[in-house]
Amino acid sequence: MNSYKIAVVDGDGIGPEVCAATIKVIDEVIKGARSIEWDHVAGGAQNYLDTGVALPDETVERCRSADAILLGAAGLPGVLYPDGTEAGQDTTLQLRFELDLYANLRPIKLYEGVKTPLEGRPNINYVIVRENSEGLYASRGGGNVLRGETASDTMLITRKGVERIVRQAAELSLQRNGAPLDGKKRVTICDKSNVLRSFAFFRSVADEVLADYPEIEVDYALVDALSMYLVTRPSYYDVIVAENMFGDIISDLGAATIGGLGMADSSEIGESHALFQASHGSAPDIAGKGVANPIATILSGASMLEWLGGRSDDSLLTESAFAIRSAVEAALAEGDGLTKDLGGQAGTQDCVDAIVRRL
Ligand code: IPM
Ligand code: MN
Repeated sequence: MNSYKIAVVDGDGIGPEVCAATIKVIDEVIKGARSIEWDHVAGGAQNYLDTGVALPDETVERCRSADAILLGAAGLPGVLYPDGTEAGQDTTLQLRFELDLYANLRPIKLYEGVKTPLEGRPNINYVIVRENSEGLYASRGGGNVLRGETASDTMLITRKGVERIVRQAAELSLQRNGAPLDGKKRVTICDKSNVLRSFAFFRSVADEVLADYPEIEVDYALVDALSMYLVTRPSYYDVIVAENMFGDIISDLGAATIGGLGMADSSEIGESHALFQASHGSAPDIAGKGVANPIATILSGASMLEWLGGRSDDSLLTESAFAIRSAVEAALAEGDGLTKDLGGQAGTQDCVDAIVRRL
């Protein structure tokens, strides 16, 4: 029997609850047909308070040797380094850098049964492909504040970085059914090339890569205009590729249109490692109350199974991923899976039960 080891970084706030929910759903769908070892490892803002590091070396090594990584949420407001940035963010950020998790895939999909604040209930189903290893985030821990007068962080864009992320975006578009509006396979390049040289470079390298994909329509969007279009015509989008910081920002904008961050799952993928966590934070205000929406993490867990199944040629995992997604879809559409943030009544456990019942 194939066996897998998953490193679990429970992290802070609601992190342990959403991880437990996801592990429960995965264990239920696998039902002993595979052996999955869940290796809980330390990390997060609380770990920083307790030990002085957000991400221990041992955690990095156990994540490196695991088949995949599941992360709950990390970071607590107010737990800061002397430079004023949040210590807990290094849990995620250092894993991204250490394991070169360069492709952050963030599906934005409006499920039946979930309310959107947008008028006319548009059909929303696109994926943000966020560059996850460079851009403005490359400066993390390396910016400069001089004499209390000036501050700078540098944005780094490399040819290699743009090529590999745009290729991911194009390959993803090929596998999808196109934009809901017109069925066209479309890759939107999100940048600010009208103002900054680095983004003009990003766009030109992206153009070169997309020239290899004549079946895909190339679309250009400045990030400010795109922020408007994601509200006014979201069904036009299929795959959007963006620099790290822009990808971060438009992810939350997109999430707001599909029921909020509780619905926003995410996969962070490199050549040989991958990490799965929701786009949301640790929500300390609701931690421990049993009300957190676990769906974003559960859907991230489904993507983990799909990725692992593909890599290990294990179709049971791939099928399990689809089974989880269908169960989530039904639990939302029929209402018993809707948590309070989605306007429903379900607590975290009720939501998990609603999903498990349908597996
Ligand atoms: C995200 C989060 C992270 C980010 C944090 C946790 C470092 O906001 O994954 O979108 O800023 O990238
Ligand atoms: Mn974010």
